[in-house]
Amino acid sequence: MKDLSKITEIEDLRRVAERKVPRMFYDYVDSGAWTETTYRNNETDFDRIKLKQRVLKDLSNRSLATQMLGQDVSMPVSIAPTGFTGMMWADGEIHAARAEKFGIPFSLSTMSICSIEDIATHVGTPFWFQLYVMKDHEFVNNIIRRAKAANCSALILTADLQVLGQRHKDIKNGLSAPPRPTLANILNLMTKPEWCMRMLGTKRRTFGNIVGHAKGVGDMASLSSWTNDQFDPSLSWDHVARIKDAWGGKLVIKGIMEPEDAILAAKSGADALVVSNHGGRQLDGAPSSIACLSEVVQAVKAENSNIEVWLDSGIRSGQDVLKAIALGASGTMIGRAFLYGLGAYGEDGVRRALEIIRHECDVTMGFCGLQDISHVGHDMLVPGTFETLKTYPPYLRAVDWR
Ligand SMILES: Cc1cc2nc3c(=O)[nH]c(=O)nc-3n(C[C@H](O)[C@H](O)[C@H](O)COP(=O)(O)O)c2cc1C
Repeated sequence: MKDLSKITEIEDLRRVAERKVPRMFYDYVDSGAWTETTYRNNETDFDRIKLKQRVLKDLSNRSLATQMLGQDVSMPVSIAPTGFTGMMWADGEIHAARAEKFGIPFSLSTMSICSIEDIATHVGTPFWFQLYVMKDHEFVNNIIRRAKAANCSALILTADLQVLGQRHKDIKNGLSAPPRPTLANILNLMTKPEWCMRMLGTKRRTFGNIVGHAKGVGDMASLSSWTNDQFDPSLSWDHVARIKDAWGGKLVIKGIMEPEDAILAAKSGADALVVSNHGGRQLDGAPSSIACLSEVVQAVKAENSNIEVWLDSGIRSGQDVLKAIALGASGTMIGRAFLYGLGAYGEDGVRRALEIIRHECDVTMGFCGLQDISHVGHDMLVPGTFETLKTYPPYLRAVDWR
């Protein structure tokens, strides 16, 4: 195991990943849609929320342990589903999935490089599978069957990618897996010899859940036309009911930003929803995820629903995790924070990202005078710094906390 004690924050991992990962894959991770305003706000809105320092309270035996979907987790964090993860580091999904040893769940994307079956073979505990609904319904039914056969313990239905947000860098870089042999790509790859050597040592270099499983997709040429055309724009709440029946297990709906949709998610019988703007990669101009959390929590409460409310988008530290929990989330997902670790140092880097986040959570809880994650609530936040995050003047619309 590599000594990463000098890597002390997620930003350190980002800088190393930027150096080691080929440009098109690094840019794919570190970018948002259009002007990237929502991408930036996801992080900066966390900074606006201030924590209350409390002193002289018993801080011994602090615990971050809780549950997500009834499953024990060592902290309220899970690994978000991300596409192309096996391009950050060869066999990247297998390395990241080993985070299960850390006591937190791993989610595998439909658009992963390693397949569902690869993860099931290499990782001991059940993982979560994220579903993109495609126009090819046979493919969708089949992938749900494959996730069941692999013993996946939850299905995450991503609801915010019926149409694709435009990310300028991906178009300009000609993003593909594997990279096309253009002059620009070859020159860039020549500066990443370690990445190239690792990639030469694996057979997993394209979308493992799709190639050989979707009708007519057997090679790279057929794959790119299939994916460009496949995200189903007709996906609606009716489909959710059908997917829930076909799956028959725990269901998570990811990509909820507004209370109206949260109520529909609660009524759909889903077990959890994720307040998420896809890490600022879809609707640029949307508020940050953390700004939308309170209203969603209140809407779900008013429905007397048991649906769990989680949050992702913008989490780069343990303090961000605690702020989300303080505002009513019962769990979180991290995307880029683990991807930077993976791109920098593979499995060791993912572990280091999780250690950093856990340490920051633990120490911050202590500074705020709390011993247990179940005691974290909005009373650990400085009033006036969180109530109006969604309301930029002149549209002031404060949440009523009574
Ligand atoms: C590189 C990258 C790829 C992603 N791919 C997927 C995906 O395949 N499926 C999905 O539901 N969400 C995907 N997402 C969104 C993440 O699941 C998550 O919502 C987001 O990363 C959270 O924001 P954060 O990166 O700021 O933590 C992706 C995000 C990134 C950064």
